[in-house]
Amino acid sequence: MDLKTRMPRQIDLASGQFTAGVLHEHTTTVGMLTGLFADQAAWQALPAGTPLYTVAILPAPQQEGELLSGVTHLYPGRVGREFYMTRGHFHQRREQAEYYFGLRGRGLLLLQQAGQCVLEPLFPGSVHYIPPFTAHRLINPGSGTLSALAVWPATAGHDYQALQAQGFGVRIMADGDGWQAEVQHA
Ligand code: F6R
Ligand code: ZN
Repeated sequence: MDLKTRMPRQIDLASGQFTAGVLHEHTTTVGMLTGLFADQAAWQALPAGTPLYTVAILPAPQQEGELLSGVTHLYPGRVGREFYMTRGHFHQRREQAEYYFGLRGRGLLLLQQAGQCVLEPLFPGSVHYIPPFTAHRLINPGSGTLSALAVWPATAGHDYQALQAQGFGVRIMADGDGWQAEVQHA
């Protein structure tokens, strides 16, 4: 038997930053999310380059059996009354599930499946199972960055198209100092 010791990948749990391992990073800006937010005028008034969220991914081969892990850092802010959120998606391979773990900040995970929406509060230490066939989106109604670690099958893929017609059935809007969920369609 041969034995070797090696350093694992590392993450700073308080900030959600990967501190060791090769990273692919991608930032999504306001200008990339055409038609996503309810208030089109407020969306257009924001500089297109305003960053909304950054995803840092530890890459893995795009092969059956492999897993990807990535941290989403969703910045605080609003487009009109609507809080910053991720684009949201189904997995292309609908049967593939995912886990999210809350690391930093306080926010919401919106799940949608077959006409049913579920909101889960996301906070440091929260653990979220996203079942197969379930669209998912992060929302940040807080005042600081929301960071969440995700682990999903490398072959899952992202289907953004399927949500383009009707979107999610719920929007998270500012309400005084807090937020309220507004149901969009039946
Ligand atoms: C991967 C996953 C997350 C999201 C990320 C950005 O399956 O769910 O890593 O990809 O939170 O959100 P989207 O992809 O909806 O822009
Ligand atoms: Zn996903």
